[in-house]
Amino acid sequence: MGKCMTISGKMMLLLAIAAVFAFTSNAMAADPIIIKFSHVVAVDTPKGEAAEYFKKLAEERTKGAVKVEVYPNSQLYKDKEEMEALQMGAVQMLAPSLAKFAPLGVKEFELFDLPFIFNDYDELHKITLGPVGKKLLDKLQPKGIIGLAYWDNGFKVMSANKPLKVPTDCKGLKMRIQSSKILDAQMRALGSIPQVMAFSEVYQALQTGVVDGTENPPSNLYTQKMFEVQKYVTVSNHGYLGYAVLVNKKFWEGLPADIRTQLDSAMADSTIFANDIAKKNNEKDLASVAASGKSEIIKLTPEERQVWKDALVPVHDKMASRIGKDLIQEVYQATNFKK
Ligand code: LMR
Repeated sequence: MGKCMTISGKMMLLLAIAAVFAFTSNAMAADPIIIKFSHVVAVDTPKGEAAEYFKKLAEERTKGAVKVEVYPNSQLYKDKEEMEALQMGAVQMLAPSLAKFAPLGVKEFELFDLPFIFNDYDELHKITLGPVGKKLLDKLQPKGIIGLAYWDNGFKVMSANKPLKVPTDCKGLKMRIQSSKILDAQMRALGSIPQVMAFSEVYQALQTGVVDGTENPPSNLYTQKMFEVQKYVTVSNHGYLGYAVLVNKKFWEGLPADIRTQLDSAMADSTIFANDIAKKNNEKDLASVAASGKSEIIKLTPEERQVWKDALVPVHDKMASRIGKDLIQEVYQATNFKK
């Protein structure tokens, strides 16, 4: 009887151990692949909403095998750190502004910063959805990064505490810029003093007078509340700000092929979504800035805008050697650029 008890006791123990093993290996098999997606803007911006949309599609299409953790608003990393984090594999996905790619060793992306290079989204898409855009993304691969897609934001306004109606109004103003040498040259062409600064620091710098003004699409001006500390906003649409979605190459290529296919399809649909909402989102946010009564909106007539264009287009030739004359010519040809 005692012996019987011992045998069944051992059986129970073995069964219990087997059950624990089965449970842990199941749990391990079910452990989701985590994609940390870090960005610096608010959730209710074109990039913020598109990141959330990608999360939704990626998790649905992989049936939970992938979990996307989105960290908005520089919560996890600021501009420069997020690039380093991606290369080190501390995050898997980013969508930095195209003005911030020089530290990766690919200066050519600064072509998107050339003032007045695109008149509208249709011209821009000839590049971002065409062969030139693809060629640029391919340049990231040797840096250990894969460029999956371009996501739109929009055309920039200029803001300050004095009205900027003509380019010479910018003379002597300290203007915050992203870390692009083209934007530096653009501000110098206006007689301003450019100051590179992380996005997360701009509001406070404007508020305390560390800088006098800045440029950004309305979505950023509004959601970061910059308009509350800038008295005038000129709708100059003098340049473009947009993104490329980047992933760590080693991580991406190490994914099971079926998962990568599902994520590629989630990215393709998120890109359509991003590019669909960007224009409307910026129009809405510009209207909200106007309605706030905190900043006066200055609209330019076509003739007034041409004066800005004449002042800034010489930046193209001045900076051609940085970006590549041939590349600029390719863009001119694709968009039928006219001075
Ligand atoms: C900026 O720094 O002004 C922008 O790049 C922020 C962003 O990601 O839109």
